Amino acid sequence: MNLPNEKIEEIAQANDIVDVISGYIEVKKKGKSFLSLCPFHPDKHPSLHISQQKQVYHCFSCKASGNVYTFIQNYEKITFVEAVEKLAARAGIELKKNLLRPDHANELTRLFEINKSAAKYFHKNLTDLTGSEREFVYNYLDKRKIEKQLITKFGIGYAPKNWDGLLSFFREEDIFNNDDIEKAGLIIRSDKDENKFYDRFRGRLIFPIFNESDKVVGFGARKLYEDDLGGKYINSPESKIYSKSRILYGLNFAKEKIRYYDYVILVEGYMDIVSLSKSGIENTVASSGTALTEEQVKLISRYTKNICVLFDSDLAGIKAAKRGIEIILEAGLDLNVVSLPDGEDPDSFINKNGKEEFEKYLNNKKTVIDFISELYIKEGKFETVNDKSGFIKEIIGYIGKIPDKIVRAFYIKDIARKYSLYESDMRDELEKVIKENKIKSFPKSSLILPQRKNSSKKEKGEEIYQEEMDLLELFINGNEEAIAYLENNLEIDFIKNKEVSVITEYFLDEYINHGKIELSKALNDIQSEEARVLVSKAAMNQHEVSQPENTSREMLLTGVTGKKYNLKFAKDIIKKFKLKELETQRSDMRGDPSLMNEIFEITKQINELKKS
Ligand code: UTP
Ligand code: MN
Repeated sequence: MNLPNEKIEEIAQANDIVDVISGYIEVKKKGKSFLSLCPFHPDKHPSLHISQQKQVYHCFSCKASGNVYTFIQNYEKITFVEAVEKLAARAGIELKKNLLRPDHANELTRLFEINKSAAKYFHKNLTDLTGSEREFVYNYLDKRKIEKQLITKFGIGYAPKNWDGLLSFFREEDIFNNDDIEKAGLIIRSDKDENKFYDRFRGRLIFPIFNESDKVVGFGARKLYEDDLGGKYINSPESKIYSKSRILYGLNFAKEKIRYYDYVILVEGYMDIVSLSKSGIENTVASSGTALTEEQVKLISRYTKNICVLFDSDLAGIKAAKRGIEIILEAGLDLNVVSLPDGEDPDSFINKNGKEEFEKYLNNKKTVIDFISELYIKEGKFETVNDKSGFIKEIIGYIGKIPDKIVRAFYIKDIARKYSLYESDMRDELEKVIKENKIKSFPKSSLILPQRKNSSKKEKGEEIYQEEMDLLELFINGNEEAIAYLENNLEIDFIKNKEVSVITEYFLDEYINHGKIELSKALNDIQSEEARVLVSKAAMNQHEVSQPENTSREMLLTGVTGKKYNLKFAKDIIKKFKLKELETQRSDMRGDPSLMNEIFEITKQINELKKS
């Protein structure tokens, strides 16, 4: 978008937040403040506070907060650009059309635009299909109970059987070149002639995959024809805008509902999301084929800490569920499991048995302990004393992943009671597991940084280290190369300050989704007041160092600032973070003689890192 920040600011100023919100919901004045029932969660007493002076709102209950743009974005479920258009119209401010047109000089923007065009093409193809092909495809849709309203909601499409359907569409449009379309993963270069391309998806039902901000980043394509020798689903390959481990299918449609119910249902497939949505169950996301990743769980945890895993009851499903459980527990989320009857997935189950039956299962959520014990029983491995102790050990293994001591204690109590065991024995076993986990997470000799998890993890604090400020400055002022380096090398755990960590996640998101970081947009988007203050401070720092007495020849050569926000700066910051991380770890371990070897390893790593 080419919309200048001044314009965004001007429009916001012309739309008083109290007026705007009053247009949607009832607002009451109380003292200096304005109060209202919060529309973003079930609210009985007014907990949404609106400050006319600051032009922001905040809900003291569900913590929804923001400015006039975020309010109407969330209330009306529209994009930022749409919100800008709406408020501009409301204030009678004219927007030149080309201001809202995407900036094609940017590669990431091109990739987003290509996917968007392709999604429209596939969708139109499906709705406009004719003849026997239409009959065949709609017959399939009927069979799977994919109704029209679902096709519209999920933007479902159809890729024609020929080799160059999409290719010819793009050639006719003539906006994007084949190299870019190839980068988006939509066409494939021919082996024989490198100037020739063909469509990746042919004769398939298309599910556009959206990122959190409703942009199409890739596609999942389901097989329809018997003679198609490809896999059941073919997906877009990874690209600069699509990283499988960071996307959850359906999150864009579900996020408000997840926040509202403060709970998410995790399923496996595209079709599960579609079918559940038909029954009004919309707080759902799918890992779509990949094993659940830490990044996906982190994404979820921005909306809720309560997760219900609903995986297929086949072997692959159970394996996926077990790995998923570990990751979810490690992230400190509250977890329940639902298992469906053998051979069913949510899609098949709900289509066969209906919503009510499905909800019975949902209401019968199990704890991890019960879920695993049922698996043992089902596999006939709950007979002998050895079997049972194997089970207890597996369960304690999971509990050892939970970062919170108190939560662990409750689980331990639960097991002891349930299986009439001594709680102290359970605790001993737990201590053992935690210690083993700790050692396992230290690498032997590589320079890969050990992940600090579980008990060694400290709460993010208030203090801000110099490298954290440097990092923010670099995000704001850095060149493409430097930010790309951060994207690849920065781990969010490096950052100890809570606000800096929130800002960093935001910046990384922006960079991944829009290819750039814009200060004023950030100030608009970031919800925490403290975080916004920090961003402004980091932006000011650049000017502080450009005081005349600091001016050196080098500074004159490099521009206004004494710091060069380049790749080297980025590498330096990462190095400092890693050093600090290793040093903290070493000091955490001192005093425990059993960890001598690990301490030695870490010291070696520190020395190597210092030399590099
Ligand atoms: P499933 O095999 O459970 O498929 O894979 P499904 O969702 O039930 O599909 P239908 O109902 O037969 O159409 C779960 C998910 O794994 C991914 C897809 O995201 C799918 O939704 N998957 C599966 C692939 O990516 N490729 C495959 O070949 C199969
Ligand atoms: Mn299925």
